[in-house]
Amino acid sequence: MNAELAHQLIADHGSPLFAHDLNVVAERARVLQNALPDGARLYYSFKANPLPSIARELRLAGVRAEVTSVGELVAAQKAGFSEGIVMGGPGKSERVIQMALKNGVTSFSCESFTDAARISTLAQKEGVVVDVMLRVNPTQAPDARLAMSGVESQFGFDEALLLAPEAAEKLKLPGLNIRGVHVYFGTQVGSVAALGKNTECALDTAVRVSAAVGFECEVVNAGGGFPWPYASDAAAPDLGGLRETLDAAWKASPLHGSAQLCFESGRYLCAGSGTLITTVLDVKRAGAKTYVVLDTGIHQLGGMSGLGRIPRASITLKNLTTQREGETVVDVVGPLCSPLDSLARGQKMAPVEVGDVLAVPNVGAYGLTASLVGFLSHETPAEVAYRDGAACETWFMSCWHGRDRSI
Ligand SMILES: Cc1ncc(COP(=O)(O)O)c(C=O)c1O
Repeated sequence: MNAELAHQLIADHGSPLFAHDLNVVAERARVLQNALPDGARLYYSFKANPLPSIARELRLAGVRAEVTSVGELVAAQKAGFSEGIVMGGPGKSERVIQMALKNGVTSFSCESFTDAARISTLAQKEGVVVDVMLRVNPTQAPDARLAMSGVESQFGFDEALLLAPEAAEKLKLPGLNIRGVHVYFGTQVGSVAALGKNTECALDTAVRVSAAVGFECEVVNAGGGFPWPYASDAAAPDLGGLRETLDAAWKASPLHGSAQLCFESGRYLCAGSGTLITTVLDVKRAGAKTYVVLDTGIHQLGGMSGLGRIPRASITLKNLTTQREGETVVDVVGPLCSPLDSLARGQKMAPVEVGDVLAVPNVGAYGLTASLVGFLSHETPAEVAYRDGAACETWFMSCWHGRDRSI
């Protein structure tokens, strides 16, 4: 992130803020699409970052929308998506499904018999027939850092339930056109070989499940989990050979030539675009320790790691004010009244001073909306999209304790 632009953005919108480089989003989309087999379709998982500027950039690059909530649906509409939106998620309420149907969603990833029945009832009420992909938790073991399939999980139909003789009957529901299978193994899949293996497994699962349930498998969403560093300037993953590997898996499947192959990605497409710009509020000593207190914390970054959901890794803090000589070991904390509000412990970094502006790279995915935004009711930071080094769009998350301009 260019220091001059960062300082200008802080002058315009205050600190902290998230800045998103749309050129990077477009480039990631291009690279990932080129790494997928010919004809494969790519979906953007809004959960990674619903910011409409990012989603619009992806739409213009030919990526489709995958949403899981009313808020993500609204974001998709703001980004200009109107057709081909897929809705997923393990607990879809009547309201979410109704909102989806009223707003033109015609395709659902279905997670259970109850989910199927609920979608069927509401589709009939709405007088429509919707496409359904059965999200399956295959019996095969996954290869992902945060495994969501191939292990016992709350996601999808357990494959054994779909292979049982009564499944076909239970899924003969009006208003549903069962067209395919969706398998998502998990995020941050560590290698090209693992991505290939997972894709093979998704395709094999689709063959087994469609034969057992008795539908023609026209669509396979093989998930993804394409990796990218989080909040650190670690090297980008080497996806060399991905296209050949996925191509080989696809061509070996009996569904090749008849079904549409799809993938979905959040992190890979937008993580690299985002920088969190923050200011040092305090540098204080407590015994042998030094604490660097920032104006950002787990309410804006890594909230899930604050809850112990994800192991905390070291983070990169680049000083955009002054690059000082030397190395200190500090704990980097935020402004919340909770010892959980810690972004890094035992972090080795050059000395910083009060007022320094720091940048955390690679936080375009699972940043603000994956954090504890409501905790302690701090103002939500501006999210600024920029292109060719110039700001082009600014957003504020809308929540009641958001930016109150009356005070
Ligand atoms: C079903 C599903 N699809 C896609 C994603 C996006 O994953 P990633 O951001 O790693 O690409 C997730 C993330 O949890 C998910 O649960």
